[in-house]
Formats: sequence, C-alpha cells, structure tokens
Amino acid sequence: MRKHWIRSVTLTAILAVGASASGWDDAAAIAKGKKLFAANCAACHGVEGVGPGVDWRKKTADGRFPPPPLNGTAHTWHHQPSLLDRIIAEGGKMYGKSYNGWMPAFGDKLNKEDRSAIIKYLHSLWPEEIQKRYDKHFKLSD
Ligand code: HEC
Repeated sequence: MRKHWIRSVTLTAILAVGASASGWDDAAAIAKGKKLFAANCAACHGVEGVGPGVDWRKKTADGRFPPPPLNGTAHTWHHQPSLLDRIIAEGGKMYGKSYNGWMPAFGDKLNKEDRSAIIKYLHSLWPEEIQKRYDKHFKLSD
C-alpha cells in the first residue's frame, strides 16, 4: 500500500515537472502576450484570435486572403514556433511575391521576447487537444 502511494506521488511530481519544463504554460509571458496581441494584432485577427468573421480560405475582391483566425481553428498550429516568429517579424512578405501577403512586419516593433510571449499566448488559446498534438510535434525551441 505504502509503496503504491510513494509511486503515485513520484509519478505526479514527474508529470508536473514535465508540464512546466515544456515552457508553454508560462503565466507571465502569456499575460504579456495577451496585452501585446490586443494592441497589435486583434484589429485584424479578432479578439482572442477568432478571426475577422469571414472565410479565411477565400480571397477577397482585391485578390488577397483575409487574416486567418489564430485560435486553433485555422493553420497556425501547423507551424513550428520559429516559423510563427518569422511570420510575426517579417509579415506577409515572407510568403513570397506570388502570395501577395499583406500582414505588416513587426520585427522593428516587437523584439524576440515580445514575439515569444505572443506565441505562448496564441498556444494558450488553442483547444487542449490541439495543444497536445502541437506539443507532440514541436518543442518551444523548434
Ligand atoms: C493589417 C492586418 C494584420 C495585422 C495587424 C496582423 N496580421 Fe497576422 N496576418 C494577416 C494576414 C492578412 C495574414 C495572412 C498572410 C498574409 O496575407 O499576409 C496573417 C497571417 C498571420 C499568421 C499565420 C497564420 C497561419 O495560419 O498560417 C500569424 C501567426 C499571424 N498573422 C500573427 C499575427 C500577430 C501575432 C500579429 C500581431 C503582432 C498580427 N498577425 C498582426 C493580417 C494581419
């Protein structure tokens, strides 16, 4: 009995360390990312990344794609953290000329730490199931 108890306490401790060691559940960074997102991104991507309320897969009359939702219902979680960082830093031009991206570049305004806080915030918006799938594929340092 006692042995069992010790084993389960040890297991719980390992799981707890595992969760925080992944680095995603960083409350201070998420809070900072939330503020930065509201100030810089929500105007296009919607409050909490819900998107602008139009189909993000359909080009608008001007031949450009609308800003996609970032809350896990579109593609954001298919991209590793370093690519998300690049998209935020370089904006739509990083997709290449033919794509005609128009998201502004934030590299001058938001430093690496700011961008990392925003990415942690975005991750926190995703449904748990998607977070798990993402964390299986990618580490924060990827
Ligand atoms: C002026 C509107 C606008 C603003 C402001 C904006 N974005 Fe975007 N964003 C877009 C558009 C449009 C796209 C699609 C690519 C393109 O056409 O440039 C996009 C794409 C993205 C993507 C890729 C999504 C995917 O599913 O592949 C991410 C991530 C992203 N934006 C994050 C941000 C963050 C974080 C901010 C704030 C720092 C921000 N955006 C500010 C318009 C905007």
